[in-house]
Amino acid sequence: MNSKLTTKFKIFLSKIIPDSEKFRYLFWLPKLHTFHKTYGAKSKFLESRTQLYDFVNQSIDNGPISYLEFGVFKGKSIRYWTQLNTNEASLFHGFDTFSGLPESWDNFTGGLEKGTFDTQGQVPQIDDKRVAFYKGLFQDTYPSFMDAYESDSTLIINIDADLYSSTLFVLTMSHSILKKGSIVIFDEFSSMLHEFRAFEDYCKSYNVDFEVLAGTKTAKNYYAHVAVRIL
Ligand SMILES: C[S@@+](CC[C@H](N)C(=O)[O-])C[C@H]1O[C@@H](n2cnc3c(N)ncnc32)[C@H](O)[C@@H]1O
Repeated sequence: MNSKLTTKFKIFLSKIIPDSEKFRYLFWLPKLHTFHKTYGAKSKFLESRTQLYDFVNQSIDNGPISYLEFGVFKGKSIRYWTQLNTNEASLFHGFDTFSGLPESWDNFTGGLEKGTFDTQGQVPQIDDKRVAFYKGLFQDTYPSFMDAYESDSTLIINIDADLYSSTLFVLTMSHSILKKGSIVIFDEFSSMLHEFRAFEDYCKSYNVDFEVLAGTKTAKNYYAHVAVRIL
């Protein structure tokens, strides 16, 4: 097709295809199958995210970890991790606005409004001196944390922030500390236009290779929770 015709066709398509998030989601879904065939087929499928956390912790023999959680809310997942990884040298860092999602989360099956998960500024009470919280937007709190970051422990980044923008920011900002053997956990991976897209964009832009350690699969979810190890 010559370029004049291509341009005409492009303009025509841009007018008739609905500019819809649901539409985009639908057309991205095959990527999940490609991901499964490329990376997931040999990895372990588990039934819940806690099983996945257990599996990840076993894979590092309960060794010392530097655990960074993005999206804390009332602390369910970070509390679980503090009880799971009992290594005294481990440190747990939780980042959240504690005033809810900074923007709405549009998803195929509905979504969540801006401000969902507001704890009125309350951080979880966890009686463990290894834990620290950072209140505010990741975009405001994480850069200074990164400036001072130093650790030899296995890095585990647990991303449960739902949003594309937040996930992409965290991944790109973490690039200098994401080394071979670091582990990234996603909590809504199959939300194709958010965590999945952010991870794909990050890997492509920074030339990052990884393997899938495990994912979840039940009658109710398929790849909602995924753990990957950086190669
Ligand atoms: C699904 S909740 C986290 C749930 C939690 N991990 C648990 O196990 O219950 C998502 C959280 O991400 C936080 N969040 C999303 N984007 C953020 C950003 N850019 N900066 C700070 N917090 C953010 C929201 O405030 C919200 O509390």
